[in-house]
Amino acid sequence: MPAPSLTPAPTLSAEELAARRDQAQRDYDAFVARGLSLDLTRGKPSPEQLDLASGLLAVQLDHDYRAADGTDTRNYGGLNGLVELRAIFADALQVPVAQLVAANNSSLAVMHDCLVHALLSALPGSEGRWVDEPIAFLCPVPGYDRHFALCERFGIEMIAVPLTFDGPDMDVVESLVAGDPRIRGIWCVPKHSNPDGTCYSDETVGRLAAMPTAAGDFRIFWDNAYAVHDLVDKRVEIADLLAACAAAGNPDRAFVFGSTSKITLAGAGVAFFGASPANVAWYLGHTAKRTIGPDKLNQLRHVRFLRDRAGLDAHMAAHRALIAPKFAAVERILIEQLGGTGLATWSTPKGGYFVSLNVPAGCAAAVVKRAAEAGVALTPAGSTHPYGNDPDDRTIRLAPTFPSQEDLELAMAGVATCVRLVGFEQLLGK
Ligand SMILES: Cc1ncc(COP(=O)(O)O)c(C=O)c1O
Repeated sequence: MPAPSLTPAPTLSAEELAARRDQAQRDYDAFVARGLSLDLTRGKPSPEQLDLASGLLAVQLDHDYRAADGTDTRNYGGLNGLVELRAIFADALQVPVAQLVAANNSSLAVMHDCLVHALLSALPGSEGRWVDEPIAFLCPVPGYDRHFALCERFGIEMIAVPLTFDGPDMDVVESLVAGDPRIRGIWCVPKHSNPDGTCYSDETVGRLAAMPTAAGDFRIFWDNAYAVHDLVDKRVEIADLLAACAAAGNPDRAFVFGSTSKITLAGAGVAFFGASPANVAWYLGHTAKRTIGPDKLNQLRHVRFLRDRAGLDAHMAAHRALIAPKFAAVERILIEQLGGTGLATWSTPKGGYFVSLNVPAGCAAAVVKRAAEAGVALTPAGSTHPYGNDPDDRTIRLAPTFPSQEDLELAMAGVATCVRLVGFEQLLGK
């Protein structure tokens, strides 16, 4: 995680520290006096980003509701989803069209269903159901709180694994999965991870695909939520996990997830599931019990609106134009206010929806509390870790996309002030 050039505060004299703490207190009091109410909690698209997809709502389907193969999209059926929509996303999600399923909105719902199906029905390559014995998942940290919430919901033990610049610490992962047959899965957000924007290296992807596992039905939950959400000119490319698993002789190891939630409409998009032919047949067999087919009208709207991969890329460029200035503002304010204090490091993501801010150990919860008291809502400290427990109490997730540019800049100034105040207080032992 890149840090600004720092004169570590711990090297300051007690007098200098006290002066800085007093200044931070004055800045904090002035901030509180403004009576603001700002929210940096959830990674939601802003209204302007949602407006980019207003054409989706304008697509007229009343006389033209047939899919490319003649399917009447108004009717039941078509569990795999429209092939022309799957074709638009196949490359981006690195899943062959025939192995990609287009579902309803929310990839989180598909992840939930995969867990429930695996708990209740043996997976390809499995000798038993997950529900019949204690199982565990590896959770790279910092990570996505809703993944952890799913594990808690189903009583799946979570084992935290450190995330490095290249993805999960593979030495740790390999040794855990080789020795413990309870470990049935790992959560991965391989591109622009939530919250610190990590992109997995090719070596990490190769090792995940090839590593020996004690469990014969081990699955990688590959949540590629930010597959096309780049903030930089040169698109970040990651290695193809599904192909790597097949090449390594573990074709059934990967479950790939994605969605258009942060492409078109967060509450009314399309989710995707990709995997080996055996896994897809398993998934569809169980899904057929809970639905007769997805909302194909919405899928058709997406096809007509996005048209093709070039249309998807152009749409993402429009998102980038709206949100890149917000990420730039976060970076600028952190450098201006915290550079040289030694009180924080932060991620500089090349895409995705979040920035993670690391404060001195033992300070994150206090910063979040101070911010709340000053009218800036932050994601609860600890939410980036299993069971809400960040053992070092140092990671804070910032979500810059939803607020207006003006509100974001105000909120960030407030957050940085809280970091200074809490950090200097801690160093002074107060
Ligand atoms: C990593 C990750 N996965 C999944 C989701 C939610 O996806 P969906 O809207 O498709 O359910 C989010 C939303 O923030 C996310 O950050």
